[in-house]
Amino acid sequence: MKTIAIVGATGAVGQQMLKCLEERNIQCNLNLLASARSKGKKFKFFDQEIICEELNPDSFKDVDFALGATENDIAKTWIPWALENKVIIVDNSSAFRLDQDVPLVIPEINPEDIAKNKGIIANPNCATIIALVALNALHKEFKIKRMIVTTFQAVSGAGVKGIQDLENQLKDPTAPCNAFPYPIAYNLIPQIGDFDDLGISKEEWKLQNESRKILHDDNLLVNCTCVRVPILRSHSESITIECEKEIDITKARELLSSAQGVLLKDDPLHKQYPMPLETTDQDLVYVGRVRKDISDPTNHSLSLFCCGDQIRKGAATNAVQILEKLL
Ligand SMILES: NC(=O)c1ccc[n+]([C@@H]2O[C@H](COP(=O)([O-])OP(=O)(O)OC[C@H]3O[C@@H](n4cnc5c(N)ncnc54)[C@H](OP(=O)(O)O)[C@@H]3O)[C@@H](O)[C@H]2O)c1
Repeated sequence: MKTIAIVGATGAVGQQMLKCLEERNIQCNLNLLASARSKGKKFKFFDQEIICEELNPDSFKDVDFALGATENDIAKTWIPWALENKVIIVDNSSAFRLDQDVPLVIPEINPEDIAKNKGIIANPNCATIIALVALNALHKEFKIKRMIVTTFQAVSGAGVKGIQDLENQLKDPTAPCNAFPYPIAYNLIPQIGDFDDLGISKEEWKLQNESRKILHDDNLLVNCTCVRVPILRSHSESITIECEKEIDITKARELLSSAQGVLLKDDPLHKQYPMPLETTDQDLVYVGRVRKDISDPTNHSLSLFCCGDQIRKGAATNAVQILEKLL
């Protein structure tokens, strides 16, 4: 039986990884690793009780695969220890995503890239996964040249601290801000990550740079505004695409209705469209509000709205799907 380690096992993504392994019936020896704060915490996995250990350079002896769910600085510390022990890593941080030797994989889109790994496979940014799962079938048919995206990102995208900020501030609007620069309850924050000289945030660059790598298209243009919203879980995105080929909306809907990983929920006259409450705690990306971009008379553009659970498909499920391919 293979030995799998979850690094960052006590966090929002790590806890979901534990559930995904169980749900997908991946029987294994499981090691749970986190900081000294979590040493000794107990978690259930199938019928076993597993005790969380403190991450250290010896944590990877006899480990076959590691699922990473830590921030970049921590990932940069432990991943070299794991590589020394010939562990194959699927990492959720952004520390290695754009490295040439590191495949960046969404299994519905570029599973063939997994074979190019040299020990690390990176899981893409959560908003990027949700957008590209929604758009993949349209890209194959019409070839997307340019995307204009506004994201509405849940507080759990910032981990356990983000969830605590919203829950505390909903009870007491003066409760401290630990995850965000401003109160998030009853508010929106149009900043996720630091801004550069162009006024573009790190999260916004990820959508362009990671989409280019996943789709193998360095000419793809992405203009994105990332917004944190007071939603517990499930990111939403309003997307307009401009394509090389003219778009037939009926054909686009047909493609979306059978696209892998997508549920087309698109009947606006009967108030049927994706919403984050409904897409929470499941793995599909819901797509709706599919319509012609009326500002483009050439019919090369289309707009849609999509929602997906960013802790599941945007992180844990995507990583476990990659692990399944490796296994
Ligand atoms: N949340 C999302 O929706 C999402 C989506 C996609 C990607 N990601 C990425 O996934 C990673 C994890 O995110 P998260 O939201 O799960 O964060 P989180 O809830 O804050 O969890 C962080 C995890 O890292 C552990 N950790 C912190 N310091 C450590 C140390 N010095 N040594 C060992 N472990 C340490 C924590 O352990 P303790 O409990 O012991 O502190 C915890 O298990 C991040 O890179 C994030 O960008 C997150």
